[in-house]
Amino acid sequence: MAHVGIVYDSGYGHTAALARAVGEGAASVDEVTARLYFADEVTAAPELLDCCDALIFGSPTYMGSASASFKSFMEGTSGLWAAQRWQGRLAAGFTSSGGYSGDKLSTLLQLNLFAMQHGMIWVGLGLLDGNNASYKSDENLNRLGSYIGAMAQTNTDQGIEGILDSDLATAHSLGSRVARAARIWNHKEMNR
Ligand SMILES: Cc1cc2nc3c(=O)[nH]c(=O)nc-3n(C[C@H](O)[C@H](O)[C@H](O)COP(=O)(O)O)c2cc1C
Repeated sequence: MAHVGIVYDSGYGHTAALARAVGEGAASVDEVTARLYFADEVTAAPELLDCCDALIFGSPTYMGSASASFKSFMEGTSGLWAAQRWQGRLAAGFTSSGGYSGDKLSTLLQLNLFAMQHGMIWVGLGLLDGNNASYKSDENLNRLGSYIGAMAQTNTDQGIEGILDSDLATAHSLGSRVARAARIWNHKEMNR
């Protein structure tokens, strides 16, 4: 049995909704369990995540970067980083913004570098660009054309009802992909 942890921050609910979709995607895979962790709840005790074979990090994009709360969580893991406790475990990321670009890539790169500093193995989205030709549309998976992780864009004057189904499905797909990888990946082999 593999365990996937989804660690996320969310000020206004969008990233939380994505986190739920990621978790449902992960839990939809046989022999995988998934659990959501709000970043603030594990900042002071990140060792609670030691039970996870894979960690999927999610933050809203605030001012072109991860949110302050998510950054606090990242810095809260420095003791685990020093011990390289998450070495060899799987990692992935997702983010939400108001703008179409919104500088979301910057946030995902931060999440990626965070995982790299921990010696983790990054799992990308694994989906082709969903809306880069006239016969494609916003209704497709990966409509925002990301490879490093899952992106979502929601109008800033709308709550979670404004999140496109395609963005939720993209998040679900990321969770499922990481879970399928976690099922066959033995991170303990990396630490011998
Ligand atoms: C402090 C702050 C900074 C923001 N910065 C950006 C930004 O740089 N780019 C962008 O497209 N949207 C930005 N937004 C909009 C949020 O990224 C967007 O509403 C996102 O979906 C919020 O996610 P959440 O509901 O999980 O907090 C910002 C919102 C706030 C509150």
